[in-house]
Amino acid sequence: MTPAQAEAELARLAGLLKTANDAYYQADEPQISDAEFDALKRRNAELETRFPGLKRADSPTEQVGAQPAEGFAKVAHPVRMLSLGNAFDEEDVIGFDTGIRKYLGLSSDAPLAYTAEPKIDGLSLSLRYEAGELKRAATRGDGSVGENVTANARTIADIPTRLSDAPDVLEVRGEVYMSHADFAALNARQAENSGKQFANPRNAAAGSLRQLDADITRSRPLRFFAYAWGELSAPLADTQMAAIERLAALGFVTNPLTRRCEGAQDMLEQYRQIENQRATLGYDIDGVVYKVDDLALQARLGFRSTTPRWAIAHKFPAELAWTRLEAIDIQVGRTGALSPVARLSPVTVGGVVVSNATLHNEDYIAGRDAKGGEIRNGKDIRIGDWVQVYRAGDVIPKVADVDLSRRPDETRPYVFPTRCPECGSDAIREEGDSARRCSGGLICPAQAVEKLKHFVSRAAFDIDGLGARQIEMFYADDVLPIRTPADIFTLQARDEQNLAKLKNREGWGDTSARNLFAAIADKRRIPLARLIFALGIRHVGEVAARDLALHYRDWDAMARAMDAARPAALACRAADAAVEAERIAAAAQGRRARIKETRSTVVEGHAIPEAATVAWEDLIGIDGVGITLGASLSDAFANSEERAAFDALRNHLTILPPNAPSADSPVAGKTVVFTGTLEKMTRAEAKARAEALGAKVAGSVSAKTDLLVAGPGAGSKAKKAADLGIETLDEDGWLALIDAT
Ligand code: IVH
Repeated sequence: MTPAQAEAELARLAGLLKTANDAYYQADEPQISDAEFDALKRRNAELETRFPGLKRADSPTEQVGAQPAEGFAKVAHPVRMLSLGNAFDEEDVIGFDTGIRKYLGLSSDAPLAYTAEPKIDGLSLSLRYEAGELKRAATRGDGSVGENVTANARTIADIPTRLSDAPDVLEVRGEVYMSHADFAALNARQAENSGKQFANPRNAAAGSLRQLDADITRSRPLRFFAYAWGELSAPLADTQMAAIERLAALGFVTNPLTRRCEGAQDMLEQYRQIENQRATLGYDIDGVVYKVDDLALQARLGFRSTTPRWAIAHKFPAELAWTRLEAIDIQVGRTGALSPVARLSPVTVGGVVVSNATLHNEDYIAGRDAKGGEIRNGKDIRIGDWVQVYRAGDVIPKVADVDLSRRPDETRPYVFPTRCPECGSDAIREEGDSARRCSGGLICPAQAVEKLKHFVSRAAFDIDGLGARQIEMFYADDVLPIRTPADIFTLQARDEQNLAKLKNREGWGDTSARNLFAAIADKRRIPLARLIFALGIRHVGEVAARDLALHYRDWDAMARAMDAARPAALACRAADAAVEAERIAAAAQGRRARIKETRSTVVEGHAIPEAATVAWEDLIGIDGVGITLGASLSDAFANSEERAAFDALRNHLTILPPNAPSADSPVAGKTVVFTGTLEKMTRAEAKARAEALGAKVAGSVSAKTDLLVAGPGAGSKAKKAADLGIETLDEDGWLALIDAT
């Protein structure tokens, strides 16, 4: 998959997940099955891992659940309620174990215990006890802020309202659910009273807990399993298993299938055991949760943005179905990628109707992978074919297979368009890119509109009242068009000159028009990082934008650096292409490629001004930037239409430099490089800790490095640091420094 395809796919996934999330959390009426939801989420996460630069501002991985619904008081969780990463097969589980060992620096045969327990398919709830009294119950909400459902929680028999011998502050977390029998009885009762029918036990549980009238909740048979905790005034135990036993001793119901496991094979065995009992449990579970047993290790492992490193949910597989491929549509994304979408004869897969699926790219349709190898044994996919729609943990919903025995006689191999269906420009496929891309740039209405939508999106300019729908409208408007970002900022002035005013239009009024102009005016002052992200440059995600902003600190300085670096960027691209060509030629001749270091090739053999090389190396040396992103950025600034759009925009803005990093840790804002062997922690752990303290971790030593942490075996980096006079610490020195915080 090419970045452009990934990007289009990420956009699609964000939309689908948002709709599904809202339907699920706000309306308690799911529109897709859990398996499909998970599959979408997983696909999204996979793509974000493969293309970190493309991570969206409104990335679904950053969202746990949904914004709290209106009607309940909001409760801030003192300790965030997190979600879990997913594993879909044995390989993922082994990968989870391997990753943890690597992070902790444990060998593959060192003893490492986990717990395995059913993943209950309900909704999570946090119960806060103070001095043994149930003080507050809150739903997860978006993970930071949930809904106060204390009165409702008090009606649940499994939830004790008073504890003896508990820590002074104790937040118990677990799952509210409804048994199959209770669910069936509730729906039958609802039918008699012509009440709403619930789609499944989980939605019945959610709908019942989130009743504004606690008496209704009381009439609904809800249950609760405790499996985790939030804020604590004293630790519960040393291990997960013992902590769960402690919760049971305090009077909570804990799941009887919870087991301690020694390593990955044992976890998989426990998964099979639980899967075998799934049908007879009497309540819904959708997988098995594994957690590192030792709580001290859990603490070391810590968290990613929304999921713990020390736990994972191993989901049960989903289903598949066969249907007819009616048509293939091509969607054009923000960076021009042409993405084929299968239009299917609607088919139910695991209770959900599927009528669209991704076909990834032209190679996938042709039965080839990115390297020219076969997929589906080389079978191509044709309009009219019977195709298998697969919705398990993999890419979902996707067309996985084709049934040649049912292929109608008149089908033809699908011819992938070589012109953009939106603007007619040539659609070009570059070496190494699996997407064919429209070459129209901003001339292509699809690209221009998608870029504008990105520009106003939440992590970019985030203009109230100017979302995707309004962008489509203004883009198509002849009286008051928005075709470039700068047009947004001239909207009010143009409206004032028009006879036909925005406020007099259908769907608009005086207030909404005034609000829109005010919202736009409000964003004339914009942080540099947001501006960079908003431009929608390929590979430049939120994180890269922030890194670029921190590095350049000033828009004009960055623009000048891009201009200065241009000759070196082009030379680097040429050198890269030469390396690629050499690789291909070598592979064809069955020999090893003679690959030269790409970065040094930039300078060799090309008459590049020194200043260009310096600017380019400075750009690609930013941690997380690199050649691909650097070249993409350079291309955007060198493209005359894009540059004109940037320059026009710039004139309307006051660009705010990034905040100086907070000085509350001795390494905040410092650039740290680790080298040599670390003995007390792994590189990954060292990096994560340093970043958590506000440091930037770079891969190589330069004049910008503030501190080198050198373990035994440190080589050229230590020497370079010494030459540059950079402070160098050993591992203990480093630990002393950060422990002092
Ligand atoms: S542990 C920090 N254990 O699954 C991790 N979660 O997909 C806290 N869930 O938000 C979660 N059964 O609502 C955990 N045995 C179990 C679970 C479980 C169900 C839910 C929970 C969580 C979601 C994550």
